[in-house]
Amino acid sequence: MKKSILLAIDTSCDDTAVAVTSGTTVLSNVIASQTDLHRQYGGVFPTVAKQAHKENIQPTVTAALRRAGTTWDDITALAVTQGPGLAPALEVGITAAKAYASEHNLPLIPINHLEGHVLSVLAKPKPSKLLEVANALSIIVSGGNTLFVRVEKIGKYTVLGQTLDDAAGECLDKIGRMLNLGYPAGPVIEQFAKLGNPKAIPFPLPLTTTKTYDLSFSGIKTYTRNVLEDKTVSNPLTKQELYDFCASIQFAVFRHITYKLNKILQNMTFSQIWLGGGVAANTTLRRMIRETIRANGDKVHNPKLAVPYSKKLCMDNAAMIGVAASYKLKHKTDNETIERRPRWEVEKI
Ligand code: KG4
Repeated sequence: MKKSILLAIDTSCDDTAVAVTSGTTVLSNVIASQTDLHRQYGGVFPTVAKQAHKENIQPTVTAALRRAGTTWDDITALAVTQGPGLAPALEVGITAAKAYASEHNLPLIPINHLEGHVLSVLAKPKPSKLLEVANALSIIVSGGNTLFVRVEKIGKYTVLGQTLDDAAGECLDKIGRMLNLGYPAGPVIEQFAKLGNPKAIPFPLPLTTTKTYDLSFSGIKTYTRNVLEDKTVSNPLTKQELYDFCASIQFAVFRHITYKLNKILQNMTFSQIWLGGGVAANTTLRRMIRETIRANGDKVHNPKLAVPYSKKLCMDNAAMIGVAASYKLKHKTDNETIERRPRWEVEKI
């Protein structure tokens, strides 16, 4: 039987991403970033994203095929992100995927972007077998989503808790804008935080009285604004104040996540714990999650936190879409019925 080789496309937000994968093996993972275009707006501007996706998609597909050492003759199926995401951005990827599928007579597999982030930890740089997994806990922390997902098995997910307002990365980016740190601010905050004191500003810990595992980051944002408007703070901040601010904000955002993770682990057991999404690249977040797992040692069968093998797999990318699709090769979908699903929940796959 011919080995399955997939070409996967993700245009859910502001990156045009194309990858070639075989099972969980990543053969290429190309991302045409639009960050420079959106920087002036301090966030993603949907119509600008749509236009840039239209311009980038074909050269990104060509680059992904070339880097994988493949041609269209090698590709056995296509995968595309159907949602959730920005509707105008999703549309470009889906339209392109349908056109390629029809031109090359290939099946097209629609994939949920969040399932891609969940399964990003299974991607491998070298050939390896498709693993079956049961009862894992996936923590997704990105610019668009922050949630705890129970992976009953691959393809069956339960959301244990999720943000009720901003995502963690979005919160860091918005605070970064208040501090003139540019966009996206998450990586800058991580660097500045290394030079600061995380206990310098006592941010509140949100949602401690609720019994749910939901999260909320809007209070941290409001608290930041209030502190910055306080007359006792220098304007502009001194260098050390800025470093302390970044360390304290980062600590507040991550402590909220690990507080809820701790609650989950007090009540449930898991085979393993996975971390994905753009903010998962942050080493302090990884450390704080590892410490929380260690403190609940008896609740996790394999206590080693699984993270994607590269930072490129944390951010929005298409390799994770190809990996998710490799578990659905047997499902048949009529290519023409695939439409964008901007609010597609991971539980409803
Ligand atoms: O998953 P992703 O590429 O896309 C969206 O879901 O939008 O995540 C991007 C987010 C941005 O908010 C960015 O500030 C954040 O991930 N991010 C980080 C780091 N790298 C990216 N946040 C904190 N520390 C980092 N090292």
